Parts: sequence; C-alpha cells; structure tokens
Amino acid sequence: MSKVPRIAVVGSANVDLTTFSDRFPRPGETIFGQRFDLGFGGKGANQAVAARLCGAEVVMVAKLGNDLFGEATVKNFASLGIDTTHVRIVDGVSSGVAPIFVEPGGQNRILVVKGANDTLKPADVDAAAAALGGVDTIVLQFEIPMETIAYTVEFARKNKIRCIVNPAPAQPVDAKQLGAADYFIPNETEAEVITGIAVHSVEEAKRCAGALLEQGFRRVILTLGSRGALLASPEGSELIAPFVVTPTDTTGAGDAFIGSFAVFLGAGLPEKEAVERANLYAAMSTTKVGTQKSFPTGVEFTAEWNKRGGKA
Ligand code: RIB
Repeated sequence: MSKVPRIAVVGSANVDLTTFSDRFPRPGETIFGQRFDLGFGGKGANQAVAARLCGAEVVMVAKLGNDLFGEATVKNFASLGIDTTHVRIVDGVSSGVAPIFVEPGGQNRILVVKGANDTLKPADVDAAAAALGGVDTIVLQFEIPMETIAYTVEFARKNKIRCIVNPAPAQPVDAKQLGAADYFIPNETEAEVITGIAVHSVEEAKRCAGALLEQGFRRVILTLGSRGALLASPEGSELIAPFVVTPTDTTGAGDAFIGSFAVFLGAGLPEKEAVERANLYAAMSTTKVGTQKSFPTGVEFTAEWNKRGGKA
C-alpha cells in the first residue's frame, strides 16, 4: 500500500457467544446445540480489527465494563496494534455482549446487550478530539448512543475528515443528523427499516438506495450479501458483483466489508475497486467461524485477490 490510511472507529466492542445448531428451541423447549465459540466482536471493534488487518493505523474510541471481558478486549486491541488510548473501562455496567445463533449454511441471528457501549457520549469524542483530528476516515455504527453518532458526524464534517456511517443494527434514522457523512452503508434489513422498502431484488435495492439519496445521504453502498453490493450516488448506481465462496458463518461479514472498504478507499484506490476488494474481503470472512477471528490478514487477502485476478 503506497499510503497507510489512518482510521478511527468510534463504536462498540462486544464479546460474542456463538452457538451453532441445526435448529433453535421453541419457547419452553431445551435442545442440544452442536458447537460453541467465544470471541471478540462488536460492530465497531470488528471494523477496527478489519481495518488494522488490512494495513491501516487504527484508533479505537470505545467503552467497556469493569469485568473479565473489558480487560480482555483492551488486550486484544493492543495485541493487534490498535491504539487504545481512548478505550475506557467504566464501573457499574457490563461490557457489551452478543449471544449469536448460527444455522447450517452460515445464516446468523444476533442479540446485542449494549452494556458499556451505551455510555459512550459526545464528551468521549471531545476527549479523543486530538487523535480523531489526525485521521483520514472516521467510521461509525449504531451500537452506541445516536447523540454520539450525530456529534461525531458533525465533528468529521467540521474537520473535513471522511466519515462512514454503518446503520447497524437497524434503527430509524434522521438524515438531517447524519446526512453529512460521506458514505452511508446499510445492508438490506437496515435499509428496509430506514426506508420502508423491502429489498429482495436488485431492482428493489436500486429503489431503496434512491430513497436514501432522496432523504439526504450523499453516497450509499447497499450491501446485498451473496448478491454483492450496490454503489449509489446522485450520478447513478452500479451493482458490484460478489465473489463466490462457500460460507460457514456469515457473522461479521458486513463489518469486514466496512473496515476493509475504509482502508482500500483511504489508500487511494478508486471507489469502485475499493468496493470490489471489500466484497472479496467480506466473502473470505464468511468461510471461517467467528467474527474477528474469521477476518483474513492483508497478506492472505492480497494472495486471494491476485489468485482470482481481481475478478468476481
Ligand atoms: O456484526 C457482527 C457483530 O454484531 C457481532 O460481533 C456482535 O457483537 C454484534 O455487534
């Protein structure tokens, strides 16, 4: 990479408790699952780790509980070389956790208990202002308070820093608060919650992305899982084809896409190629179990990209 991107994530960190089962219990029923995995997760942390593995310098701004998971999460960031100066441990609240249920074929259902993530406030963004002012890109998701997200989007706008907002998990949004972000990147479910337009086809994805642009978002990337990603802007929209893989666990694939996209774009690649590369990075992450632990390194990614000749 000719230019090393500097990326900040203002966002969540969770511990993921993932259960793999052929089916899930009905109310009042107890059944046996097949497999369990404990790992570091949280949409913010996952995106930070993906960005770091892809070669960026990464600053994390987050809150954790004063418990086993909190300390371990800080150590995990530090071991990867992520700047933890603005990762704070707070008393009286648990770290964020996410029980996750994965079906055969890799589809997941996630329950998030936000815990300390909910205490990340605009004052924490102010406390990290010097570090945030030195990055190229700030990345945000929806597992922290909306006031903090809106405040950080405004901080990025004022300081002319590229800003990427990933509205996950799905919540209704006010485009007036977040529309200054350079990129708005929902998946189908999130886009449907925000626009009311269900996305089952590429045509519906185009309509949905058009509605988001009309609401005031500047550039939209609608991630479509195994159908790829739709890149939409006032100049038009284009479907970026997916890379075919056999998925084991799709958890965190959206985070892999966003963290890697921020790096590819920050490194100076054209937007379309950044999306193509992020499509492959995300696809590769689905071939292994877990979230952060399923993310390929930059070297693994580049080898696969070259092997496939950069072609989906
Ligand atoms: O996107 C996957 C992530 O969602 C998991 O790591 C889980 O913690 C939830 O935040």
